[in-house]
Amino acid sequence: MRELTRRDWLKGTSSLAAAGLVYATTAQAQSVTVRGYTPTRANPIRMSSNENPYGVPRSAQSAMTKAFSSSHLYGGRGDRQALRQIIADQNGIPAENIFIAGGSKEVLKVGALMIALEGGTVMAANPTYHDLVRYSDWVGTTLKWVDVDQETMTTDLDAMRAAYTDEVKLIYLCNPNNPIPTILEKNKLREFCLEMSQKCMVFVDEAYHEFVTDPNYESMASLAVNNDNIIVSRTASKIHGFAGVRVGFAFSTPATLAKMNQRVTGTVATPAIHGAIAAYQDHEFMDFIKRKNQEALQEVYKVFEKHNVRHFKSNSNFTFFHTGIDFAEVKDRFLNHGIDVGRPFPPYLDWARVSIAKPEDMVYFAEVYEKEFVS
Ligand SMILES: Cc1ncc(COP(=O)(O)O)c(C=O)c1O
Repeated sequence: MRELTRRDWLKGTSSLAAAGLVYATTAQAQSVTVRGYTPTRANPIRMSSNENPYGVPRSAQSAMTKAFSSSHLYGGRGDRQALRQIIADQNGIPAENIFIAGGSKEVLKVGALMIALEGGTVMAANPTYHDLVRYSDWVGTTLKWVDVDQETMTTDLDAMRAAYTDEVKLIYLCNPNNPIPTILEKNKLREFCLEMSQKCMVFVDEAYHEFVTDPNYESMASLAVNNDNIIVSRTASKIHGFAGVRVGFAFSTPATLAKMNQRVTGTVATPAIHGAIAAYQDHEFMDFIKRKNQEALQEVYKVFEKHNVRHFKSNSNFTFFHTGIDFAEVKDRFLNHGIDVGRPFPPYLDWARVSIAKPEDMVYFAEVYEKEFVS
């Protein structure tokens, strides 16, 4: 058996399997790269929640383990400030403009809560990511949906401007959007944020920021730090593999972040903070994930292009494709082959979202697609 190298650690289970070190003895072995694993309905390959198929980086695992020695203390030992400084330096913004939360879900919900407490309507694109809008709905806020542009399937900023009324107190934008991984052109988005933030709160969810390759994209972080009415959210759940660890961020002015802090109900665990400090500095891992995501996307594009399936060039770790068949049936037919694809996104019920797993798994996805859906 050969020795493990740093590269092996980076690659996670894929090359561990190649080294003969990993066997599919548990339900976690959801990749065709793991020896002994067979995708089944009961234990499918996860292509449904836009997770990182390579897991938490080793650097972060090790930092989290060490952090248990100070986990009996409230607030750690200034570690939160260290993480804020790293994020600040990486984004060219001051640390005072960063708030750390238990995943970006918490930032989204606090955004929704602020509007619920003060009163007003929330406006969002249809379709878009659900957390902020669904929470708004649960706490009794009126929602105003604006369909995406039917031709480009991007969030329609002009239609949002036209639909705006004085009751609207928050506009939620997801950039890149989810489930459609399209981006908003940077100049148009900046103009929209500056204009609409004079009238209401503009919340820009940048959960997939690190995956973007389109030069027409730009983060709105630099606007948020100077504007009480702009909030940008980010997450460690995607490229850093922290979906189960729970670390997310809000960028805004100190005044807006203080207001969020008064309304937030949770706190972030000390090991999670230490893990994030390591993960955000692990550029080798991030580069590896970006490269693998691109490689895996190519496998998906290849099969869709071969069969003229409408789909989107992704700026994220998922894509959205036209099936022409009801989603429930599509989900079921993929599950028969041990592949779990994403949930229904009404009114796009004859489309499906597929999260990008390892390239080898996406080759398997392409094979299954051809077998099941190409006659
Ligand atoms: C656009 C978007 N925002 C936020 C989230 C939630 O992420 P987190 O794990 O940080 O709560 C997701 C999760 O899939 C997402 O797709």
